[in-house]
Amino acid sequence: MTIRSVIRGVGSYLPANIVTNEELTKTVDTSDEWIQERTGIKQRHVAADGETTSDLAIAAGRQALERAGLKGEDIDLFVVATATPDHTFPATAAKVQAAFGRRGVPSFDVQAVCSGFVYGLSVVDNFMRCGQVKSALFIGAETFSRILDWEDRATCVLFGDGAGAVALTAEQGAGTTVDRGVLSTHLHSDGNQHDLLYVDGGASSTQTTGYVRMEGREVFRHAVVNLADTVKEAIAANDLTIEEVDWLVPHQANKRILDSTAKKLRIPNDKVIVTVDRHANTSAASIPLALAAGVDDGRIKPGHLVLMEAMGGGFTWGSALVRM
Ligand code: UT7
Repeated sequence: MTIRSVIRGVGSYLPANIVTNEELTKTVDTSDEWIQERTGIKQRHVAADGETTSDLAIAAGRQALERAGLKGEDIDLFVVATATPDHTFPATAAKVQAAFGRRGVPSFDVQAVCSGFVYGLSVVDNFMRCGQVKSALFIGAETFSRILDWEDRATCVLFGDGAGAVALTAEQGAGTTVDRGVLSTHLHSDGNQHDLLYVDGGASSTQTTGYVRMEGREVFRHAVVNLADTVKEAIAANDLTIEEVDWLVPHQANKRILDSTAKKLRIPNDKVIVTVDRHANTSAASIPLALAAGVDDGRIKPGHLVLMEAMGGGFTWGSALVRM
């Protein structure tokens, strides 16, 4: 017997304001054709003035809790994965906890940029497997629009805002891959690659928030290799075959990265959940937003085996294998 962290409900929230590629061409030297051809992105959601990461997180969290049949008072742990917190401190998760009317239980943020969802899921899973908590609300939420240099065409066309959430409870499992819940997580980082994808500001360096800077081609090259490796690692650790995976739910950075990774792994495209065309790259929110999209349209069903993978600034990368 073993404790499993079971996803009971999935929720999502996207700001109402949609910005198309065409609209971006009015302010930056780019084209709809270039963006679609190089990234697969057609549009992104952008938070309204005054709409914060915690607002997005709370909306997604509320839906996940409702669908799980849980209330804020039932939750033992609040975690938010974000690189765009409302404030330098306290954690955005503290605001989320307060919004759900809960006191006393732990709340904190996880910062692993675009890998934030797999990192955070791993943290929550370890809390549950140790028996320290019996329930958790875990949210990936970002307002990347706030840290984009809207004059830098190499980055501003790539990102969007949004939030996705999962409500989890600890259940007894048999300890096999037939169990529902998180079956494994694998995390990696290489801080030597810090300067290939970073924000050029921060409390202790510039006392400003800063803007996203990226060597896109280099990040792309590392992404395809690292993502394929971490998927293979998850499959091998669980003694499964790639054919047994029902859905690949990747971090949504670029359609070409999704296609190259799927091809490298011999996963057919119709087993890959793709939202990058509608959401662009929402960093820590992209996996739970894609998961919610697959659940909402009925493709991802209870019992399905879902493999999540992500790569982001740091570099950080990793995977999570979950039976829904
Ligand atoms: O989520 C975290 C992980 N992030 C990623 O995984 C992102 C990884 N990287 C990428 O997705 C791609 O590298 C990009 C989409 C960022 C760029 O695509 P690329 O095919 O690697 O293009 P490039 O950077 O090599 O640039 C090709 C050309 C350049 O012009 P020259 O030097 O060939 O004349 C750029 O200046 O495209 C130009 N360019 C643009 N043109 C029109 C760059 N951005 C734009 C733009 N519109 N928005």
